[in-house]
Amino acid sequence: MSTNRRLWLKQSSLALAGLTLGSKSITALDQTITATPADDFIRLTSNENPYGPSPKARKAMSEAILRSNRYPWDDTTKLREKIGKRFNLTKDHVIIGAGSSEILGLVAQYVARDKSHFVAPDNTFRIWRRAALDLGATMTKTDLTQDKKFDLPAMEKAITGNTKLLYICNPNNPTGTILDAAAFKNFVTEMSSKYMLAIDEAYLEYTKQPSMADFVASNKNVLVLKTFSKLFGLAGARIGYALAHPDTIKLFNSMQPWPNAGASATAVAAASASLDDADFFDMVIQKNQVEKNKLYSLYQSLNMPYIESYSNFVYYSVSAYKGDWQKELEKRNLLCGGIVEEKEKWTRITIGTEAEMAVYTKAVKEMLA
Ligand SMILES: Cc1ncc(COP(=O)(O)O)c(C=O)c1O
Repeated sequence: MSTNRRLWLKQSSLALAGLTLGSKSITALDQTITATPADDFIRLTSNENPYGPSPKARKAMSEAILRSNRYPWDDTTKLREKIGKRFNLTKDHVIIGAGSSEILGLVAQYVARDKSHFVAPDNTFRIWRRAALDLGATMTKTDLTQDKKFDLPAMEKAITGNTKLLYICNPNNPTGTILDAAAFKNFVTEMSSKYMLAIDEAYLEYTKQPSMADFVASNKNVLVLKTFSKLFGLAGARIGYALAHPDTIKLFNSMQPWPNAGASATAVAAASASLDDADFFDMVIQKNQVEKNKLYSLYQSLNMPYIESYSNFVYYSVSAYKGDWQKELEKRNLLCGGIVEEKEKWTRITIGTEAEMAVYTKAVKEMLA
């Protein structure tokens, strides 16, 4: 029997046993681990939530299938209202996309359409940058500090006469670092007087840090990007959003085929229901933290450098390992991130379930034995 199949069976039987997590029953989580895996791999690559979608989201999606012959306009509007309320804003401050990637695509168009320049740190989430550069934008990348944090003064220095936008992912993917909230707020206040700030908060729900959404009520130059793909466990459903001043939302809507066109009825239903499933996501955060702490202990015991993470992944260095780290893990059925920084071989792992992390831990110990 394959490792993953065994793992799945083990998880299912644990589920049937009705374990408790602290004082909370994990019955809700049980349903998330009875789905047959699509293939034999343990996926620790893309910062997905291994427990989601939430029980309420699953139910809502099933019901929405029946309504899928109709466009989901009304439901999308209701979701925008619901999201707006969470941030003391209105539906007019919210744009919906098929994942926040769709909205990052609009960010790319926004900088490229007048061949503007943007500043982005490196390393950070960068998939969308290719589109911006292909369409004619230019970019300056700024190095991270020694401890893998953003260098805000360096970003400011990189601004040119043609700069239109600064991209900041907080917490950062792949390093998991977070900016000091007060320093970041000052930076946003200052920079947004002249430039658009695209602030990517894909992982902020894993922290207790404040969102920069407070800026958008009065400031047209702040776009806060959010997704249901990470904590909310809906990566495959494809739904994300951004918060901005209504005038900015209108501008970004005008770059979509029609406003908020991208998300399906099932994705909208799942997203809306997820927002009502706080207990489930508290459990996910708690489990993520438990596994993250175990991971830190593992790396400490093996003298492996790592960066403390404010998210559901950890950035660590395999400089002591001479072989191909990713390939060796793959031989053990583990799909993990590749090397991001060649020097010192920094790489990233997504935190999975307890059983998945046990397989990873065993593999790491074997590989470094
Ligand atoms: C920082 C960051 N932003 C945005 C995304 C895109 O997420 P999605 O398009 O699934 O909403 C990701 C996905 O990995 C990410 O890490």
